[in-house]
Amino acid sequence: MKGIILAGGSATRLYPLSKAISKQIMPVYDKPMVYYPLSSLMLANIREVLVISTPRDLPVFKELLGTGEELGMTFDYVVQEKPNGLAQAFVLGEQFVGSDKVALVLGDNLFYGQGFSEMLKRAASIRNGACIFGYAVKDPRAYGVVQLASDGMALSLEEKPQQPKSEYAVPGLYFYDNTVVQRAKNLRPSARGEYEITDLNKEYLKEGTLKVEVFGRGFAWLDTGNCDSLLEASNFVATIQKRQGFYVSCIEEIAWRNGWISNEQLKALGVKQEKTEYGRYLLDLVK
Ligand code: DAU
Repeated sequence: MKGIILAGGSATRLYPLSKAISKQIMPVYDKPMVYYPLSSLMLANIREVLVISTPRDLPVFKELLGTGEELGMTFDYVVQEKPNGLAQAFVLGEQFVGSDKVALVLGDNLFYGQGFSEMLKRAASIRNGACIFGYAVKDPRAYGVVQLASDGMALSLEEKPQQPKSEYAVPGLYFYDNTVVQRAKNLRPSARGEYEITDLNKEYLKEGTLKVEVFGRGFAWLDTGNCDSLLEASNFVATIQKRQGFYVSCIEEIAWRNGWISNEQLKALGVKQEKTEYGRYLLDLVK
């Protein structure tokens, strides 16, 4: 399975912060925001990742993430000229996806909680169809919303409904079979002029091949759309890391635990950042 990180858009709700730099490069406590969604793909055992961003911001992602070799991974990059919608990721990524299955994660979504890796591996093991997630939120109106039957099957999906049929928002993490590319190509823009991921998911729903996994109460899904949620995400990460001593979404650690890089490689990455807590954390892992 391959992975796509969609990290474009203009993030006008974060102005003036995002006037000159990409939101998904900004810090969430001690690391760039994009590390968090990247770590989700890595936990799903995905080693080949395509990063999509704006013509202005893509060079910065290349500088930050490079070829992926240091993590035992491969990173590719593609420009999205205009933020025409999330489903466009599969059209832009057609060549990259090839004949594989593919997961999409939004560059501003952060996931954290026990059992996450197992859920991801289950989602990545789908053969035909798609797997999305549900997460109860107080006000789901700003999200895609999924209504679930008592057996957990999806009954309906709506994008930003004024009167949501359930409290379950659909987070920005999606797993698909290879037919997603053709389906994305056939989509029509919505009333707001975007190729909607929810319309894509509805295709699978209609066919009865949409699986929904629900994150429980102890799980954290944060997005970082405005200044308050950005600060809350930073505080959340700092609290967990200081309390437990385990890092949240440390991509070097995940690559090492996945067996993609050796002790020596991890050590070399730590030495490069020795002056920071982050670098010292990597060195401690090797010890
Ligand atoms: O965060 C989860 C939600 O993401 C889902 O519940 C919704 O169903 C889904 O439509 C999406 O809603 P948002 O309102 O958050 O979408 P937004 O337009 O803000 O885009 C999400 C991220 O993707 C944002 O960081 C910008 C980036 N983006 C967006 C578009 C439309 C792109 O890179 N390219 C795009 O074309």
